[in-house]
Amino acid sequence: LFPWAQIRLPQNIIPLRYELTIHPNLTTMKFKGSVEIKIQALKVTQNIILHSSGHNISKILFTSGVSKQEKQVEFLEYKYHDQIAIIAPEVLLDGHNYTLKIDYSANMSNNYYGFYGVTYEDENKEEKYFAATQFEPLAARSAFPCFDEPAFKATFIIKIVREEHYTALSNMPKRSSVQIEDKLIKDEFFESVKMSTYLVAFIVGELKNMTQETNGTLVSVYTVPEKIDQVKPALDTAVKLLEFFQHYFEIDYPLQKLDLVAIPDIQAGAMENWGLITFREETLLYDNETSSVMDKKLVTRIIAHELAHQWFGNLVTMQWWNDLWLNEGFATFMEYFSLNKNFRQLSSYEDFLNARFKTMKKDSLNSSHPTSSSVKSSEQIEEMFDSLSYFKGASLLLMLKTFLTEDVFQHCIILYLQNYSYASIQSDDLWNTFNEVTKSLDVKKMMKTWTLQPGFPLVTVQRKGKQILVQQERFFLSTTDSGIHPLDSSHLWHIPLSYITSDCKAPDCPYVALLDKKSDVLNLTEEVQWIKFNVEMTGYYIVHYADHDWEALIQQLQRNISVLSDKDRAGLINNIFELSSLGKVPLKKAFDLIDYLGNETHTAPITEALFQTDLIYDLLEKIGELELAKRTVNRVAKLLQQHIQQQTWTDEGTLSKRELRSILLDFACTHHLENCTTQAMKLFQEWVDSKGTKSLPTDVMPVVFKVGAKTEAGWTFLFERYGSSESESERNKILEALASSEDVRKLHWLLKASLDGDIIRSQKLAIIIKIVGRSFAGHLLAWDFVKENWSRLIQKFHLGSYTIQNIVAGTTHLFSTKTHLSEVQMFFEAQSETTARLRCVQEAIQIIQLNIQWMENHLKNLPLWL
Ligand code: BES
Ligand code: ZN
Repeated sequence: LFPWAQIRLPQNIIPLRYELTIHPNLTTMKFKGSVEIKIQALKVTQNIILHSSGHNISKILFTSGVSKQEKQVEFLEYKYHDQIAIIAPEVLLDGHNYTLKIDYSANMSNNYYGFYGVTYEDENKEEKYFAATQFEPLAARSAFPCFDEPAFKATFIIKIVREEHYTALSNMPKRSSVQIEDKLIKDEFFESVKMSTYLVAFIVGELKNMTQETNGTLVSVYTVPEKIDQVKPALDTAVKLLEFFQHYFEIDYPLQKLDLVAIPDIQAGAMENWGLITFREETLLYDNETSSVMDKKLVTRIIAHELAHQWFGNLVTMQWWNDLWLNEGFATFMEYFSLNKNFRQLSSYEDFLNARFKTMKKDSLNSSHPTSSSVKSSEQIEEMFDSLSYFKGASLLLMLKTFLTEDVFQHCIILYLQNYSYASIQSDDLWNTFNEVTKSLDVKKMMKTWTLQPGFPLVTVQRKGKQILVQQERFFLSTTDSGIHPLDSSHLWHIPLSYITSDCKAPDCPYVALLDKKSDVLNLTEEVQWIKFNVEMTGYYIVHYADHDWEALIQQLQRNISVLSDKDRAGLINNIFELSSLGKVPLKKAFDLIDYLGNETHTAPITEALFQTDLIYDLLEKIGELELAKRTVNRVAKLLQQHIQQQTWTDEGTLSKRELRSILLDFACTHHLENCTTQAMKLFQEWVDSKGTKSLPTDVMPVVFKVGAKTEAGWTFLFERYGSSESESERNKILEALASSEDVRKLHWLLKASLDGDIIRSQKLAIIIKIVGRSFAGHLLAWDFVKENWSRLIQKFHLGSYTIQNIVAGTTHLFSTKTHLSEVQMFFEAQSETTARLRCVQEAIQIIQLNIQWMENHLKNLPLWL
């Protein structure tokens, strides 16, 4: 009988040091391993419970720290929890050390998780093998027996046996390299710092690198040899950001090296393994000819994110996955913060703003969860990797930073990092550190109202002369049969309000106030024309203006937009559309507000207006309301006509303007506005005529390819290019174009090819499904494909993962009929109870219900005013 019944390991034994030797065979996809674990007993016990998954254990030796005698011991296995129990030959005494030595063999995984192998073709079409690890969250246990919970920090000595022509990398610098047999080398790496198992990593492959030294650390970017000329921008960025973070946190990066490696096939976008960060090729490599502004942003942002993890996550780690946001929320926040400070021209605040809008939408659903939520199964742990941990976490930090000021905030996080270096923490430890600094202000009490409750507040503002009444309730998109539900009243947040008025002047502007009750009254010194709350949308809440204040803002936007920042304008657009879903304002009023768009000068408001418009278009199109869909788009297209006409088909202008160009032209070509498709087709034809040698402006390349892929010949040309291109950013643009074809057979082929993973890597499947799922031609096909292949999909990407969440959302979010609702419900219920209970499934169901409601509320009225 297995002596332990819980998912969490007992606390009576802790690991101190691992010495791990791994010998993979990349062709047979098997490996041999041997791990020696030095452990310490904290309480008297005779059982040692640890994780091990899929290992064929041949022998376990136990050595007592006292007698030094080595004894072979027996073990039991409990597969359901990935645990083994070793029955020690003697009682372990508290405070004493012991050693376990475990010899085993196992298969390398083929699903991007654990110690996995991939094959790829090099430039000469030769098949190559590559091995890498992805341990977060629960897969270190499948590479070696270990205490696989983040709080069990220990040091690691890694040894890798490899064939001569490969390079082996691990977290630490290489210490020695010895030939052990003909053509077989054993690399040993230095003992690591104290760290969690999920951050351990090693890689074996044919690699080249470029290196630069900074402050005692060698920073290198590695890639397959033929792409070595695409690593320089990443190296420069990594060095610059590493210097920035060390300076900002006042803590040096502790290792002598930091490797950033582009992996030919990987599920995640990137992974922050200490000293050995792994990336997709598209998130690390940059090619001058084919990478666009958006690619540049992506590369910079992801490097920033993973570097920030070297402190937030690696140095200071959450005790358990319920607090994943302490890792991911902080890394995401630091992403945008560090980009603002170091790469201002990238305007990444626009992306952060956008992410906030999307996250709030998700957070307003029933299926949402508190930022810190208890997790009890492996699916639940996987599910924590969602936009709430990332972006709600980051948004709450932004709100707090704005409220406390930048200096106080920095002071607090430096203290936090110093206090808990090499340790594991809970959310309370973070807030306690803030309270130490802020003294009378209780940050903990305030922030707990945000991290322990799901959702966020709707603040309703009512102005009567110089008095402003503010009230809060949960912004809750509820789906009951009786239509829109009265708002949930049981929640209360401590909201740092900020507001500006037509008359407010520095230094009092913006005004701030903390709303910690259901309602309150604020007093103005004089009567004003308009008032705008949640300045720059740094607060995680939506504002509704009762009475005439929406009208006042709409009129102000018509008169002069410049009294409000672009973030405020984007915030107003977002809020009014979301309020229309809630039934608080008529949809027509939301469209009235964006009537000023012809005068808009910035990217963020236009992006948001187009997002809202396209969503309505997509929904209407899918139920065959093509005429109405077209009219919706036309209403906005008219406003943007001049903007669209002014666009050139070049890469000129500021980075933000360049991004706007690709958004506007994509909108124009998708909806056949102006002469967009003619222009795009012309460029495409010239490119084809030059056999793809003529260089295209990178920002418009996606649009040009998309239009080109609409013809049979164009699609085929692009497909061939996909096979031969050496630039992952070009290949991505091509793939997205191929996937936006209207030919259902081609779409089906693409989906299948990416599931098989030979011609199109499986890492691209989620994005292909998403694109196909959005189009009229492909949306039913995409859903059928998911149903048909569900078991293969969850084998490849595992239940609950980010990828599976995206696949479910991407194939269901545009359904708006009762038939589809019950079909989706029945499909997931038929799989398993665990599947039906997945949060992404609950969310999908609720989104469809909301879409159905939306149709009921708007379909009749739309034609009257559109
Ligand atoms: N720690 C994550 C990688 C990860 C994601 C591990 C999901 C396990 C499950 C990493 O830091 C990360 O957040 N990667 C992102 C990219 C990032 C820039 C948002 C990803 O993979 O999408
Ligand atoms: Zn992360």
